[in-house]
Amino acid sequence: MILVAGGAGYIGSHMVKRLEQAGERFVVLDNLERGHEAALRGASLVKADLRDPHSLRAAFARRDIDVVLHFAAYIEVGESVQEPAAFWQNNVVGTFNLLEVAREAGVQQFVFSSTAAVYGEPVRTPMDEDHPTVPTNPYGETKLAVERMLESYDEAYGLRSVRLRYFNAAGADPEGELGEDHSPETHLIPRVLLKALGRAEFRVFGDDYPTRDGTCVRDYVHVCDLADAHLGAVGHLRSGGESLVCNLGNGQGFTVKEVVAAVERVTGLKVGAEVAPRRPGDSATLVASSDRAKERLGWRPQYPKLEPMIEHAFAWFKSRPDGYKV
Ligand SMILES: NC(=O)c1ccc[n+]([C@@H]2O[C@H](COP(=O)([O-])OP(=O)(O)OC[C@H]3O[C@@H](n4cnc5c(N)ncnc54)[C@H](O)[C@@H]3O)[C@@H](O)[C@H]2O)c1
Repeated sequence: MILVAGGAGYIGSHMVKRLEQAGERFVVLDNLERGHEAALRGASLVKADLRDPHSLRAAFARRDIDVVLHFAAYIEVGESVQEPAAFWQNNVVGTFNLLEVAREAGVQQFVFSSTAAVYGEPVRTPMDEDHPTVPTNPYGETKLAVERMLESYDEAYGLRSVRLRYFNAAGADPEGELGEDHSPETHLIPRVLLKALGRAEFRVFGDDYPTRDGTCVRDYVHVCDLADAHLGAVGHLRSGGESLVCNLGNGQGFTVKEVVAAVERVTGLKVGAEVAPRRPGDSATLVASSDRAKERLGWRPQYPKLEPMIEHAFAWFKSRPDGYKV
């Protein structure tokens, strides 16, 4: 059975649906602090907090868990700069607790949601997994610390892991049951969509970068493709595969202006985004090479284009203006 930590969040809830479709047995562990019970659509939940090992033990008790998928974390870069202690506690100490309880329960296989933020400022593009890791904010530091923890757990205890470094997760369930409901929402595609719908402000930060139209280039990956990559990672580990680190992106990269134009094309709405000065700390271009995930996990992204990511997210925001609150 699979334990999905953080399964009530944006990416974790899409994973839960994918596990149901694949006929896997699983249980979700989440404290619902930043997730939504409605996103679980009745899937089995143990309400537990990574920072409380006793509550974690309850999730493992009397269940034959063989793999942990670990999505639970604080994720906002800006918040991590303001409140680093909370990030070290939740993302690093919390993961340590989860690993220890998993180890006590005899779990030997672990899939971790890491991030492009472990790389920091790019020295080459596209970035492959051997790119130097020099995070520029506490969020990226906490994720890199967990990656290192996992390496040492493999060496010492034989706990094998796949560390998946996502670039920008985007899109929503094509059937419209699930979507992104972060508060505040800081991700680009939802912000542009909410601006088009007249529900939020949106500005383009800088149009004088050395890119094709002067705005920043980012790599977007459909949330359902992320879920598929996790299934590949589970298969890899269950068939005895060694620990791995893999990027998950679409390898293409789109500028902010291209995202705005695609939103206007898909929705038929005007975005009308103003240009503001650059924000400190934004890199011009962040694009992944995901060849390793394709080779080693058999990953075949279904939605590499921007349009389906925007269509699915737009359908969600239109049909659920208040997100999971009804
Ligand atoms: N969203 C992205 O673009 C992106 C990009 C790179 C990496 N990631 C990583 O993917 C993972 C999931 O991201 P998301 O966008 O779905 O985030 P999210 O905030 O939507 O989901 C995180 C879930 O974890 C739960 N959680 C957090 N702390 C917990 C704790 N102490 N105990 C129990 N549950 C806890 C929250 O309640 C929430 O349901 C994170 O680890 C994040 O770092 C996300």
